[in-house]
Amino acid sequence: MSNEVWCIIPAAGVGKRMQTAIPKQYLRLHGQTVLEHTVACFLQHSAIHGVVVVVSAADEYWAELAPKYQGQRVYQAIGGQERAHSVLSGLKYLQQTLSLAEDTQVLVHDAARPCLAAADLTALLAAKAEHGAILATPVRDTMKRGFKGQTVISHTEERADLWHALTPQLAPLGLLTMAIEQALQAGITLTDEASALEYLGLHPLLVEGDARNIKITRPADLALAAFFLQE
Ligand code: CTP
Ligand code: MG
Repeated sequence: MSNEVWCIIPAAGVGKRMQTAIPKQYLRLHGQTVLEHTVACFLQHSAIHGVVVVVSAADEYWAELAPKYQGQRVYQAIGGQERAHSVLSGLKYLQQTLSLAEDTQVLVHDAARPCLAAADLTALLAAKAEHGAILATPVRDTMKRGFKGQTVISHTEERADLWHALTPQLAPLGLLTMAIEQALQAGITLTDEASALEYLGLHPLLVEGDARNIKITRPADLALAAFFLQE
């Protein structure tokens, strides 16, 4: 039995919706890059054994940051076309390069979410979910279903059981690798790890997290993240 917890940080995206010259994970917030804030969330948590940062093959910025992490169990893997390919590359790194056990607990956390609170990470790890667990927040707005791509209301969705999926998402190394491989092979679109586990018919747990754990996606999100980090 492995008691180790490792983290994969997919950071191989180009940040198209952010519309900045450099990828959003390398934009600065209070004097540090977004990615440095994100990595720090995990390095500062006592339960985490190590971190794999997954960067693009064309990345020009990681090499500048990497020396800072020497001797701190921060490793690098090369990402792929979609986020799921990048995550899979991180999982292979843990399995093949670091030879970690299949039951190692793996967290996957977006590089673009620098505002993760230590308490949320602790709560997620405490879930000890056999088939995975994710941080999520309950939906608070009234949710309307549109109609065949038109801007017209079909009906109001029952809000009670709707959640926003956040990261980190937690699952055993072997199970998550198998789930993502099988879902990709079947041509399923994966925007998070839980969807791969769902594809296998599993039901990962929802752990309520802080809504300030936003993903920097559009230009206005950067100022919001700066505000939350300062709090
Ligand atoms: N990501 C990745 N590999 C990809 C695509 C995305 O590692 N091929 C990472 C991003 O770097 C980000 C996280 O996955 O930290 C969440 O993805 P998203 O917010 O969509 O980031 P981007 O794909 O970079 O942004 P956009 O979709 O606007 O281009
Ligand atoms: Mg994307």
